[in-house]
Amino acid sequence: MIKKRFILLFFVSSFLLSQDDDLLVIGKKVYTESCAVCHGLSGKGDGVVAGNLEVKPRNFTDGKFKVRSTRSGQVPLDEDLYRILSRGMGHDNAMPTWSHLPPNSKHAVIEYIKTFAPKKFSRQHRAKVVPMSPRKANTRESIAAGKQWYLDIECAKCHGMNGHADGPSTKTLKDSWGNKIVPPDLSKPWLFIGGSEAEDIYRTLSTGLTGSAMPALEGTLNEDQTWDLVNFLMHEFIDPGNYAPR
Ligand code: HEC
Ligand code: HEC
Repeated sequence: MIKKRFILLFFVSSFLLSQDDDLLVIGKKVYTESCAVCHGLSGKGDGVVAGNLEVKPRNFTDGKFKVRSTRSGQVPLDEDLYRILSRGMGHDNAMPTWSHLPPNSKHAVIEYIKTFAPKKFSRQHRAKVVPMSPRKANTRESIAAGKQWYLDIECAKCHGMNGHADGPSTKTLKDSWGNKIVPPDLSKPWLFIGGSEAEDIYRTLSTGLTGSAMPALEGTLNEDQTWDLVNFLMHEFIDPGNYAPR
């Protein structure tokens, strides 16, 4: 009886192992065919066309990702990476949308890019999602409070008072890989890399965009105050037509 169980266990675990292996084989194939030209065969962001791109492809080997639902400094969840592949990262860089890839290929390539930073991703299960309360109504009071945060936290230093990315610090910004980086015009949400719905803006503000100059506000603003700032940005710059004060 014990022997039988042991044999069964052996078969089940080797089946699971080979499933994982298969996923990585598929992932490597997708990566080599579709991603390596920019991100490089070894994931260092040094693919053959990288030199010609103004916004450089991500180096996957240091485990730093800009667009996440997790706390500043933590790796993204698989769902975050899946969302990025499905949506792309705005119109201002070379990262294409991969919505046409079948779900299995997306899952496989995600598993594969995680192997470039194995130590960081071994802690992925401990990553904490930044809390988000339900959307707050965009009342006049909320928008006015958000405007005050925009002034107090000095968003205008980089984004300018009118959101046109003409603040005094804008010209000298570098990302943590040493590349020049320019904030997007806040009235052109199609340039945003993390999405432009109110919930996306909330997530971007609270988690920050690790590696860029864009700071994380979790710990500076509470959930209510973060919504005030989101309401101000939606009303003033991002989607004024749908965000008239109520
Ligand atoms: C034509 C070039 C190009 C190709 C091909 C490409 N990428 Fe990218 N990718 C980029 C650039 C550029 C960035 C950085 C964008 C930024 O920082 O604004 C990026 C960023 C990323 C990020 C980082 C997101 C973050 O939050 O920091 C992921 C994940 C990613 N790419 C996955 C992939 C995968 C998977 C493939 C293949 C299926 C792929 N990319 C193919 C150019 C490319
Ligand atoms: C030190 C400069 C700096 C400050 C201060 C700053 N930002 Fe940014 N912000 C950036 C840069 C750079 C980017 C573009 C990052 C990228 O694409 O990698 C950005 C991007 C953004 C985006 C677009 C996000 C996306 O998905 O592409 C929004 C919205 C934004 N910032 C709002 C704010 C608000 C609100 C504040 C104040 C709380 C603020 N920023 C403070 C530099 C800054």
